[in-house]
Amino acid sequence: MTVDINLLDISYKVVIQKLQDIKFDSKVVIVTNETVKKLHIDYLLKHIKAKDLSYIAIKDGERYKNMETILQILDFCFKQKLNRSSVLVAFGGGVVGDMTGFAASIYQRAIKFVQIPTTLLSQVDASVGGKTGINNSYGKNLIGTFHQPQAVYIDRYFLSSLPPRQFGAGVAEIVKMAVCFDKEFFGWLLNNKLKNQNINKAIELSVKTKAKVVAKDEKEQGVRAALNYGHTFGHVVENETNYTTYLHGEAVSIGMVMANTMAVSLKLMTKNEANSIKMLLQSYGLPTSYKIKDKNRFYDKFFLDKKSTDDKLVFILPKGIGDFIISKDLEKYDIMKTLESFV
Ligand code: GLY
Repeated sequence: MTVDINLLDISYKVVIQKLQDIKFDSKVVIVTNETVKKLHIDYLLKHIKAKDLSYIAIKDGERYKNMETILQILDFCFKQKLNRSSVLVAFGGGVVGDMTGFAASIYQRAIKFVQIPTTLLSQVDASVGGKTGINNSYGKNLIGTFHQPQAVYIDRYFLSSLPPRQFGAGVAEIVKMAVCFDKEFFGWLLNNKLKNQNINKAIELSVKTKAKVVAKDEKEQGVRAALNYGHTFGHVVENETNYTTYLHGEAVSIGMVMANTMAVSLKLMTKNEANSIKMLLQSYGLPTSYKIKDKNRFYDKFFLDKKSTDDKLVFILPKGIGDFIISKDLEKYDIMKTLESFV
């Protein structure tokens, strides 16, 4: 099946099916990582037809999502003599996708790229919508651009080699979509284990949700911020643990539980609703608890969040299941009260 992403300046397709041949009449560089290269590069090379095809494998992991790796990718592009009509192919998870998109957006002031995501997290969320970027010591994805791919090709086959923790990390993003936008989808998730064909259904529903959200708000001026449910807390958790303890989706799982605690205390959601989300996350082995060592330091790190403006923190809080609010005027007291539940 195909989902159309219709934006102001560009429309593209998200193709969800077994990978077919993809033809380019230009030079192509595939950007992948060492792990995906070992597992799947031969399979991909058989399916890409281009004037000139080469690939670069970067180191695997969130800690390599930095400027040094971007310079390495760009250097490779120059060595391959890519020009303005050349195309990058992002072949990997969210880290590879975000970095390839970023490199494409700045190489010779922007060239095209396509996404072939190989993790559940990138298939259901990160590969769609054009967010690109890298981390630095101040936080996650604080350097980046909006640069839409020309197409996204999602093949569930790649998930067969995904370690269970990585699969769970993707489930966290699926739960995020359902909790904020689709009560029926959430009910379905409670009653259906994500395996075999059910995975395709969850990918399709998530991509359709994301398509609607980015069509309304490509540059995150409003509703797209809801896709950051769990991320305001989760990014601090990731930063505090040096991006080494939790996968991004795992930190988001903890972050959603924290956001739910806040939502319950503000009477936006019932304890039962919060518990059903927690149980669903736990059923996929996702972490749902975290011990905050220093709540003042944790609080200060919220201000690195891209959603915060001047001295105002922004929290995405679920309103029951299937709806949300974007809260911009919480008192420090309320925020600290939530943090206290986790010390
Ligand atoms: N992953 C959140 C977004 O694309 O906005």
